[in-house]
Amino acid sequence: MAQRFHLLLLFFVNLIFLSSQQDLNFIYNGFNQNQANLHLDGSAKIESPDGLLQLTNATLQQMGHAFFNRPFEFGSASSQSLSFSTHFVFALAPKPGVDGGHGIAFVLSSSMDLTHAVPTQYLGLFNISSNGSPTSHLLAIEFDTVQSAEFDDIDKNHVGIDENSLQSTVSASASYYSDKEGKNKSLTLLSGDPIEVWIDYEGTLLNVTLAPLRNQKPSKPLLSRTVNLTEIFPDRKAFLGFSGATGSLISSQYILGWSFSRNRGLLQSLDISKLPAVPHFKNPKKASPPLIALFVLLTLIGMAVLGGVYLYRRKKYAEVREPWEKEYGPLRYSYESLYKATRGFHKDGRLGEGGFGEVYKGTLPLIGDIAVKKLSHDAEQGMKQFVAEVVTMGSLQHKNLVPLLGYCRRKGELLLVSKYMEGGSVDQYLFYDDRQTLSWSQRITILRDIASVLCYLHTGATQAVLHRDIKASNVMLNGNLQGFLGDFGMARFDDHGTNISATAAVGTIGYMALELASTGTSTKTDVYAFGAFMLEVTCGRRPFDPDIPIEKRQLVKWVCECWRKGSIVDAIDTRLRGKFVRGEVEIVLKLGLLCTSIVPESRPTMEKVVQYINRHQRLPVFSPDTPGIGVLTPVLIGVPSLAITSSSGASSVSAPSVSSSSSNNSRFISHTIIYGDGR
Ligand SMILES: *[C@@H]1O[C@H](CO)[C@@H](O)[C@H](O)[C@H]1NC(C)=O
Ligand SMILES: *[C@@H]1O[C@H](CO)[C@@H](O)[C@H](O)[C@H]1NC(C)=O
Ligand SMILES: *[C@@H]1O[C@H](CO)[C@@H](O)[C@H](O)[C@H]1NC(C)=O
Ligand SMILES: *[C@@H]1O[C@H](CO)[C@@H](O)[C@H](O)[C@H]1NC(C)=O
Ligand SMILES: *[C@@H]1O[C@H](CO)[C@@H](O)[C@H](O)[C@H]1NC(C)=O
Repeated sequence: MAQRFHLLLLFFVNLIFLSSQQDLNFIYNGFNQNQANLHLDGSAKIESPDGLLQLTNATLQQMGHAFFNRPFEFGSASSQSLSFSTHFVFALAPKPGVDGGHGIAFVLSSSMDLTHAVPTQYLGLFNISSNGSPTSHLLAIEFDTVQSAEFDDIDKNHVGIDENSLQSTVSASASYYSDKEGKNKSLTLLSGDPIEVWIDYEGTLLNVTLAPLRNQKPSKPLLSRTVNLTEIFPDRKAFLGFSGATGSLISSQYILGWSFSRNRGLLQSLDISKLPAVPHFKNPKKASPPLIALFVLLTLIGMAVLGGVYLYRRKKYAEVREPWEKEYGPLRYSYESLYKATRGFHKDGRLGEGGFGEVYKGTLPLIGDIAVKKLSHDAEQGMKQFVAEVVTMGSLQHKNLVPLLGYCRRKGELLLVSKYMEGGSVDQYLFYDDRQTLSWSQRITILRDIASVLCYLHTGATQAVLHRDIKASNVMLNGNLQGFLGDFGMARFDDHGTNISATAAVGTIGYMALELASTGTSTKTDVYAFGAFMLEVTCGRRPFDPDIPIEKRQLVKWVCECWRKGSIVDAIDTRLRGKFVRGEVEIVLKLGLLCTSIVPESRPTMEKVVQYINRHQRLPVFSPDTPGIGVLTPVLIGVPSLAITSSSGASSVSAPSVSSSSSNNSRFISHTIIYGDGR
C-alpha cells in the first residue's frame, strides 16, 4: 500500500514536473485574452479593442518591454535535450517622411526587469555597463533599423543574434528565402507591414527565419548559429518576451501575435485572420513618396515657369527710370502698357516711319486711341533736358496742339505717347493722289489753326517755345479736318537717332531759314518754316522738289516769279480746279513770301501773321523785287540729297555727308541739315 502510494506520488510529482514543462505552450492571436500573463513596462501597452501589443509609440526616447510572466525552465540537463520554437508577427511603422528607429528584439532574459536598460541603440536591452557583461544573462534576436557604428552594425535594416551584448555574434540584412523563386528576397523592416518570424532552437543550433505575412515558412533560415543556452542562463531558466526602443529616430513598434512551445512539433500556428491590424499613419507610407515627389516636382516646375515668365517679362518690359524723372511721374507710361496698347507694336498698327523712328497706333483703356512714337537713340546724354522739354511742351494747352500724353524710356529708346489723330498728316492730302484733296476753305482753316497755335507758343508762355520742325507732315488733322501741330522737339534727333545738343539747329530742307547756320533757332526761323508751309499748302507742292524742272524746283522762287509775271494766283494748286477765294489766296501767298524772306527782320511775328491771315490787318506793302523776297537758300542748290553736318561749335558748314531716309507718310525725301550750334 505504501509502495503504491509512493508510486502514485511519484506519478503525480512527475506529472506536475512534466506539466510545468509542457505548460509553456502558448499562443496569442492578438493579446486581449491572456493579458494577465504578460508583464508590461515602459511605453509597452496593449491597445484595445483588437489587442495589438504596442512596444513603443512614435515618440522620442521610448522603451517598452513585454514578458510572458512565467519563465521558460530548461529542465534538468540530463532529462532531455533543450529546445524551443517560437513564432511571432511584428510591424514597425515609421512616421511618414521621417527616418524610423530604433528597433525591437525577441528576448530571453534571466530577469523581467529591464528598466535599468536604456533606449536608442541599446534597444531597451542593456545599459552601457551591462552591455557585453556575461552577468547580463540575456539572449536577444534584434530587428535593428538603425546602423550603430559602435556595435558594428552592418546596415540599418538587419537581424542579429545578441549574446549578452549588442555586438551581434551573427547578423544579416533582413531578407527571406523564397522557396517559390529559389532565391533570397530582401525585406524592409520599417515598411509598416507585418513580418513573420520563426525562431527555432534545437541542440545548440539557433535558427532565425523571416518572411512577409502570409508566406510559408521559408525552408532556409536567415540566421543559423550555435548558441549554448545553458552557458548564458546558468540558472537554466529564462523569461521570454520583447523589447522595443526609440531614440531621436522613432517608429511605432507592434507585436501582433505570438506563439511559443518548447517542442517544435507542438508549436501552434498563428491564425493570421485573427491578428489585429497595424494602424498606419494618416499618410500611408507607400503613397506618400510619389505624392510628395509629384507635389515637389509640380511646385518646382511651377516656380521655374513663373521665374522664367518673370525674367522674360522683366527683360521684355525693361525700362530706364532715373531719379530725376520722379517729377514727371504722372506722365510716365510703363512699357508694358504701351506694348499691350499697340499689340506688341504690331506692324498692322504702324502709322508711319519718319526720320526719327516709327509711329504706332494703339488703344489705352480710359484714354482711347493713341499714337506711340518710338525714337531710338544712341546716347543717354542730353536725355534729361530733352525729356524735360518734351514734357513741358506736353503741358502746354492749346486747342490746336496735338496733346502729348506722356513718355516712356528704355535702353536706347524713347517712346512718346500722344493722342491719335484720325485725320493723319496734311502732307498725305497734298501729295497722295489716292486721298481726297483739301478744299480751299479747309486749307485756309488749317493755316489759321496752325498760325494761332504757333502764335500761342511764341507768346503765350513766359518764355517763347520753339517748334523747330514745322512742316506738312507734322501738321495733323482730326476727323473734322481741323489742324493740329504735333511732333515737338523731334528736331533734336537726327536721322540716326543721335541726340544732338540743345542749341544745335535741325530742320527739314525747304523749311529752314538761312540764318540757322549762323544764329541758330529763333521765333524767326519758326516763322520762316511756317511761311514755307503756307506756300506748300496753297500750291500743293513741296518747298523743294528735285523731280521737277529747275525753274519750279524752289517753291519760294517760283511763287515770286508768278507774282513778278503779274498773277501770283497762278501758283495755286491745280487740284483745287479754280475753286478758291482769290483775295485769300493772294494774301496767303504774299504772306508766305514775306515769312520766307531771307532777311529775318523783314519777317512778321506770328502775332502779325495771325492778324494778316485772318484779314484783321492789311499786309505791309512789298513787291517781288523787295530785297530778301523770293530768294533761294543758296546752300541747298544742287545738293538735294545731301545732309550737311558740321562739328559742334563750328559755325561754318563743313563737308557734307550723305544721309537720306525715306518716309512713309511723306514720299518726300527728308533731308536734314545739321548745323553747328552757331555760337
Ligand atoms: C507614448 O508613450 C509615452 C509613454 O507611455 C506617453 O507618455 C506618451 O503620451 C505617448 N504618446 C502618444 C502620442 O501616445
Ligand atoms: C545597468 O543595468 C544594471 C542591471 O542590468 C544595473 O544594475 C546598473 O545599475 C545599470 N547601470 C547604470 C549606469 O544604469
Ligand atoms: C536550422 O537550419 C539548419 C540549416 O538550414 C538546418 O539543418 C536545421 O535543421 C535547422 N534547425 C532547426 C531547429 O530548425
Ligand atoms: C541567402 O541568404 C543566406 C543568409 O544570409 C545566405 O547564407 C545564402 O547564401 C543566400 N542565398 C542566396 C542564393 O543568395
Ligand atoms: C554549454 O555550456 C555549459 C556550461 O559552460 C557546458 O557545461 C556545456 O558542455 C556546454 N555545451 C556544449 C554543447 O558546448
